[in-house]
Amino acid sequence: SWTMQSFAEMVIKGIRDQVGDDRVICALSGGVDSSVVAVLLHRAIGRQLYCIFVNNGLLRKGEAEEVRRVFADHFDINLVYVDASEEFLSRLKGVTDPEQKRKIIGNLFIEIFEREARKITGVKYLAQGTLYPDVIESVSFKGPSATIKTHHNVGGLPDRMSLQLIEPLRELFKDEVRSLGRQLGLPERIIMRHPFPGPGLAIRIIGEVTAEKLSILREADAIVMEEMEASGWYDKVWQAFAVLLPVRSVGVMGDERTYEQVIALRVVESVDAMTADWARLPYDLLARLSNRIINEVKGVNRVVFDISSKPPSTIEWE
Ligand code: XMP
Repeated sequence: SWTMQSFAEMVIKGIRDQVGDDRVICALSGGVDSSVVAVLLHRAIGRQLYCIFVNNGLLRKGEAEEVRRVFADHFDINLVYVDASEEFLSRLKGVTDPEQKRKIIGNLFIEIFEREARKITGVKYLAQGTLYPDVIESVSFKGPSATIKTHHNVGGLPDRMSLQLIEPLRELFKDEVRSLGRQLGLPERIIMRHPFPGPGLAIRIIGEVTAEKLSILREADAIVMEEMEASGWYDKVWQAFAVLLPVRSVGVMGDERTYEQVIALRVVESVDAMTADWARLPYDLLARLSNRIINEVKGVNRVVFDISSKPPSTIEWE
């Protein structure tokens, strides 16, 4: 739209004037906010921007490749890609407590981001995708998501590395960020992407995270994504995902008895994630999801559908 176009032009000019010849870093997650920040900054200062993408090994299927394809190949952004999968997995060994998982993942992310950022010389600014609701929340009250936000942002980093913050989305709501993203030519897949938690698949594997469980969950989750998109339901819901339960149940395959794991489907409608209701998916979609997951994902012989609302349940299981 015209207003978004002039807003974008104004912000781009502002960034250009502010940054001059200096360098800017940002953390790219592949989510809407950090993607819009990256493309906006790239428009303003081109190769003076360095985006750091940390693959924590807890991402969805194909996610890391997609980020590289879109940002490095298509937009020609300086992208520092770090595969830290092994590091994350080894630190998570034996850990079952959800908050402990979050802490470990958040801290290791900052550690790795800082390590990579220090390799880039002459950096003066850190760009972040802080939105207006984040600004309000951090000054007015600390709700349940106060602890959540620290993982996504690179909390504490600007001070530690004596960087100045650039937060071009500070005045925008989510829907405005989306139209800005469209204005900047970001693919619709990224614009409409469901929220995905910083700790990723680790908090969707109940109990200990292992390479094997990650691979089971990643395959199941990919089927959920495919079927949600194919049926047109993806854009109608707030979030849709699979959870791997620490339970085995008995099944039968041919004339063999099986004793395998359970996938729970979590699909919710929401406007702000503070409250949510389970989505009334059509039975035939549920049937397709269940059949495909059980037939295609080795190690799973049962699928259940989560019919809990928030509150009192949360959207995530951990
Ligand atoms: P809950 O489970 O609290 O989730 O109902 C509300 C929203 O927040 C997301 N979420 C997280 N996001 N780090 C994040 O970046 C986290 O640790 C985290 N935990 C929950 C969740 O996906 C939902 O959109």
